[in-house]
Amino acid sequence: MWVSRLALRDFRSYESFDLDLERGVTTFVAPNGWGKTNLVEAIGYLSRLRSHRVPQDLPLVRAGREQAIVSARVHRGERHVTAEVTIKAKGANRARINRSGVRVREILGLVPCVVFAPEDLGLVKGDPGERRDWLDSLLVARNPRFAGVLVDSDKALRQRNALLKSLKAHPDSGLEGTLDIWDRAFAEAAAALVVGRRRLLTDLAPHIDEHFSGLAADAREVRREAVARYSSRIDYSAVDPEDDDAVARTVDVIVEAIVSRRAKEIDRGLTLVGPQRDDVELLIGQTPAKGYASHGESWSLALALQLAGWNLLRSDSGHPDDQPILVLDDVFAELDTGRRRRLAHIVAQAEQVLITAAVGSEIPQELVGRTVDLTEVSPAA
Ligand SMILES: Nc1ncnc2c1ncn2[C@@H]1O[C@H](COP(=O)(O)OP(=O)(O)OP(=O)(O)O)[C@@H](O)[C@H]1O
Ligand SMILES: [Mg+2]
Repeated sequence: MWVSRLALRDFRSYESFDLDLERGVTTFVAPNGWGKTNLVEAIGYLSRLRSHRVPQDLPLVRAGREQAIVSARVHRGERHVTAEVTIKAKGANRARINRSGVRVREILGLVPCVVFAPEDLGLVKGDPGERRDWLDSLLVARNPRFAGVLVDSDKALRQRNALLKSLKAHPDSGLEGTLDIWDRAFAEAAAALVVGRRRLLTDLAPHIDEHFSGLAADAREVRREAVARYSSRIDYSAVDPEDDDAVARTVDVIVEAIVSRRAKEIDRGLTLVGPQRDDVELLIGQTPAKGYASHGESWSLALALQLAGWNLLRSDSGHPDDQPILVLDDVFAELDTGRRRRLAHIVAQAEQVLITAAVGSEIPQELVGRTVDLTEVSPAA
């Protein structure tokens, strides 16, 4: 996959900007604050329908404007489409494919792209929510059906929480019978998500370790395994996620877990267990990455997680034309020379790689390609 043209209207700092892109590696160099990240964030947005650095859309719309438009011409082999999203400061976003209006969700899958950015350090050092988001985004990227699963699971959770809250406020309302129905509804929606995540992690695990050791492949470093496993307060160990009946059995496990916590949940007015609380446990060797790993190791592990996702997306289709675009936003600055070189070697395999750097000399020499000095093509933000 590759994008040949990107057009931005009132996106972040860009009032109106059109950029022609080429296959292969392109590096954008400009001083801090010039708009490098804004540029690649726009492509990432088309891929995930959300920014890689902020949870809401509002900051993406140029200050004082009502909407932003991101449009990209995407090539897959001989074919190409133009995917466009209008991001509204208020109200629902809109989307078009080849100028025809479509549901926004239909854009998902059209511009597969993996973004590596300084924020990824949060995958290792941050809260569980960051790891869940990463996993869920990858689920959707591999199979857009999961966008619906996520919405359903979130909706069921909110409805169940609302009921728990009213049960807490009005204990004699007779609503407790209704809770059985919501337990089941929540468990069904949640189970599809949990099984999806567990299957995804099974697929990711070998790639994570391979990239972690690949990046650190230095004779002086002790070889330690990088492990990523699903972690939950609900014990899913009896269910093999690869089994055909894994979702149905997971529903039973979740129902049992929430029924056993019923009194506590009513007391708190909140669903205390489920995919909204789960995490991905990351280990380097025997120790948890969070709290133990060095800065460089944490960064390598975060990169390994993203590279593993990229690997899966690539191998899913098996077709060279379907390779996701790779974005490396400011990633080289954090790495030692060896890791820079090895990362360069890995990413050079992508059909299109977009790199940003404030200082061009951070880019390893191995990454031959085009360098665009943004100060020459776009005004400062
Ligand atoms: N919604 C917005 N409206 C107007 N300007 C914005 C908006 N969002 C961000 N900006 C501005 O965009 C500018 C450029 O941001 P960006 O993150 O792309 O810089 P950068 O070139 O990646 O810098 P660095 O090298 O520090 O990472 C910032 O100065 C910021 O104030
Ligand atoms: Mg930046």
